[in-house]
Amino acid sequence: MGLKIACIGAGYVGGPTMAMIALKCPEIEVVVVDINEARIAAWNTDKLPIYEPGLLEVVQTARGRNLFFSTDVNKHVGEADIVFVSVNTPTKTRGVGAGKAADLTYWEGAARVIASVSTKSKIIVEKSTVPVKTADAIEKVLRRNCTDPNVQFEILSNPEFLAEGTAIEDLTMPDRVLIGGKDTESGRAAIATLASVYEHWVPKDRILCTNLWSAELSKLTANAMLAQRISSVNSISALCEATGADVQQVSRAIGTDSRIGSKFLNASVGFGGSCFQKDILNLVYICETVGLAEVANYWQQVILMNDYQKQRFVERVISAMFNTIKQKKIAVYGFAFKKDTGDTRETPAIDVCRGLMADGANLCVYDPQVEASQIYQDLGTEKFEWDHPSPRSRPIAKSAIDIAMDPVSAANGAHGICIMTEWDEFKHYDYEALYESMVKPAFIFDGRNILDHAKLREIGFIVYALGKPL
Ligand code: NAD
Ligand code: UGA
Repeated sequence: MGLKIACIGAGYVGGPTMAMIALKCPEIEVVVVDINEARIAAWNTDKLPIYEPGLLEVVQTARGRNLFFSTDVNKHVGEADIVFVSVNTPTKTRGVGAGKAADLTYWEGAARVIASVSTKSKIIVEKSTVPVKTADAIEKVLRRNCTDPNVQFEILSNPEFLAEGTAIEDLTMPDRVLIGGKDTESGRAAIATLASVYEHWVPKDRILCTNLWSAELSKLTANAMLAQRISSVNSISALCEATGADVQQVSRAIGTDSRIGSKFLNASVGFGGSCFQKDILNLVYICETVGLAEVANYWQQVILMNDYQKQRFVERVISAMFNTIKQKKIAVYGFAFKKDTGDTRETPAIDVCRGLMADGANLCVYDPQVEASQIYQDLGTEKFEWDHPSPRSRPIAKSAIDIAMDPVSAANGAHGICIMTEWDEFKHYDYEALYESMVKPAFIFDGRNILDHAKLREIGFIVYALGKPL
């Protein structure tokens, strides 16, 4: 065996990235560790803790050979030459910077563990998305908490760019691998060691090396710019509805300009996922702390537009249904924040469902991957916030939510269907049969623009699609 790798954090990033490294580098031992026992236990079965197309096959090939999942954090971190840190870095909910700054509690905890169990020098890899300059802080924690003078830590930033639902594809053929490190002899050596891991399958010209701060900031910037594209096209979807233009035609027309490019121009009910909002808030907070108010406001607007889009969707449903949805059954198709994942973190469906329930609707949610308990938890008794950053809360009745195991029972007796996630199966349902089972007039609100609207209108549905003429 050659190098030993440990990864702290067996989540959406740690699990798939380490499985890919293990698959492509059979001579490297890779151990993913986590304090969450249930999660580690699930990684050791064929019912993995996350749903990701193609992941099980990769895990099955490498698991037990050179890929291991363990709760013995101290042992495996202690033995490793390279430690990836892939813990969660959520938005702070309390104290200074609450609601914006990144909460580095888990990161710092991981660093303290590394320092306390290290008896040999290690490369520490920031895989989590962190504020720029985090490596500086982490270095202090590592150096001041490690008592062995012979142990050296070299910190690298190696942010992850995979998207959920396509993680295996993204990891197999990444647009780039980014490695930031110090321009010192030991820094350059560490960069070369980490690059040699990726070079097992990633072409050398796709491995970009930068300084630490550029790598850290590039990750926040990439997510901010991706989210900005969605907010931009979503803002135009509102204008399309007001003017008779069609946002899909506009996206196609502008996307053919090679300077703009065609990807990430799908208007939607809003972007979700665990990272876009959190990372932009993080960026906004950093700008504020260094006195760049204009820059902070610029990026904050991306989030405000996303909140507006979700709110606009709810208001459109209510106004279309004669300004009252009280006690009307509405089927919600899709709850995950995007297709091909069971992840509901920051899904736009949460805000939309809460908005509809606040107006008295009875919801029946169907999602092919999300567990009912997760939906109940997400829509539970918590209050919902519209007017970010000064929240307005409305209480909701928990009894107003039902979870269906199939799309037919969700639509049965409903006044309307709201498409929240772009699951492929939604395109292929028997909408004639669904229409028959619904209260008339039957509405469809396509929050993802994935259905054949002309055909639905022929069946008899009243169709509202995002950024499209009625
Ligand atoms: P996650 O919540 O799914 O997983 C994090 C895991 O870390 C959890 O299982 C948690 O138990 C574990 N953990 C926390 N502290 C620990 C400790 N001290 N010791 C051991 N285990 C510990 O999070 P995620 O979605 O995998 O995201 C991880 C990081 O990667 C975040 O910074 C995120 O911004 C970034 N990221 C996420 C994605 C994505 O698609 N989800 C993509 C790119 C980057
Ligand atoms: C995103 C980035 O794409 C990844 O590069 C990054 O690594 C990751 O965040 C992260 O840091 O966590 P992810 O959130 O998994 O990945 O999924 P995306 O495909 O980016 O979708 C995010 C949200 O935007 C989804 O709700 C999706 O439906 C929405 N979206 C995406 C649109 O509304 N329109 C589009 O054209 C594209």
